[in-house]
Amino acid sequence: MAEDFKVTPWEVTGDIDYDLLQERFGTTPIDGALLDRMSRYGEIHPMLRRGIFYSHRDMVRILDDYDKGERFTLYTGRGPSGNTHLGHLMPWIFNKWIQDTFDVPMYFQMTDDEKFLFKDLTLEDTKRMAYENALDFAALGFDPDKTRIIVDTENIDTLYPLALKVAKKVTFSTAKAVFGFDNSTNIGSIFFTAIQAAPAFLESEIRGRPVPCLIPCGIDQDPHFRVTRDVAPGLGYPKPSLIYCKMFPGLSGGDKMSSSDENATIYTTDGPKAVRKKVGKAFTGGCVSVEEQREKGGNPEVCAVFKYFYYLFEEDDSKLDELADSCRRGEILCGECKMRLTERINVFLEDHQAKREEARDIVDSMAFGGFEWNKEAKR
Ligand code: TRP
Repeated sequence: MAEDFKVTPWEVTGDIDYDLLQERFGTTPIDGALLDRMSRYGEIHPMLRRGIFYSHRDMVRILDDYDKGERFTLYTGRGPSGNTHLGHLMPWIFNKWIQDTFDVPMYFQMTDDEKFLFKDLTLEDTKRMAYENALDFAALGFDPDKTRIIVDTENIDTLYPLALKVAKKVTFSTAKAVFGFDNSTNIGSIFFTAIQAAPAFLESEIRGRPVPCLIPCGIDQDPHFRVTRDVAPGLGYPKPSLIYCKMFPGLSGGDKMSSSDENATIYTTDGPKAVRKKVGKAFTGGCVSVEEQREKGGNPEVCAVFKYFYYLFEEDDSKLDELADSCRRGEILCGECKMRLTERINVFLEDHQAKREEARDIVDSMAFGGFEWNKEAKR
């Protein structure tokens, strides 16, 4: 059943129909014309070419402004509820490409407050995770001079006046309609969307003039930014533009990699053995027996292993097509494909983990307003 899925900022279930979701949310498809336009600024990123970043709001305006010499500020974020996995890295990698391609400053918001409010975690837990997650973010090589990390409970003095302005314009009935809150929802959760809206207006506030803002993120965050965009004109700020990606798939065949399915989730700190084990158990499009697969071939369309190559681990289109073809012809079997993917992931993680260690020095300089990271409780 196509309708049988749910996507909210806090819950993703079912088989996501991304076209239908786009329709429900009212976002605009990234079409050929927009891709052509974007390719003028640099070689188009595979995630755009492959329709992983597939939907947007007001992307054209951002580019029009940019062409007139008006630089936008990038904004994205992370709710620090656990260790970083590959699904989190995917949109950050895209953000890094935008920063490099357009040479723009960026804010990264870590919503330790959100995860405290919505999950069974203490503020100490979420603060500690913020530091651990920030290392993964910084490891991707964002420009330390142009990138600031906001931790909500550390930077609340900056965020609060902006959040208040937003909160005054959002009624309880809007919050209920957009997020499905009811009378049992704690009041912090109801207020929270105002905190996530704040960084979209931060650069305008600091500069004292309207500065365009672009937010590349998962489409599950759209409810927050619908609200943000609705209130912006009334507050004298430009509506932020958005560019949305699909969820990074889980290894067990699900539509979203999630820490609730540990064995189908690859963390940035996983070692080679763990990766091999997890990829080994992945859901594939293979047949029950080798004989049958040699004869009938596999189905890359449904295969989690193939999706990993598609999303992150094979940037070369012709090599990707070759892989799909040889799978369909029954030439390459699941075992070999899994071995190749394991190798790719391990090479990537070895490099990432080294950079993650180096990032310990970098994140200090990225702390917005120079706050002290909570490293004390670090594991
Ligand atoms: N709410 C997001 C999460 O749970 C974190 C976040 C804050 C975010 N600001 C953002 C994500 C801006 C994308 C863009 O992960």
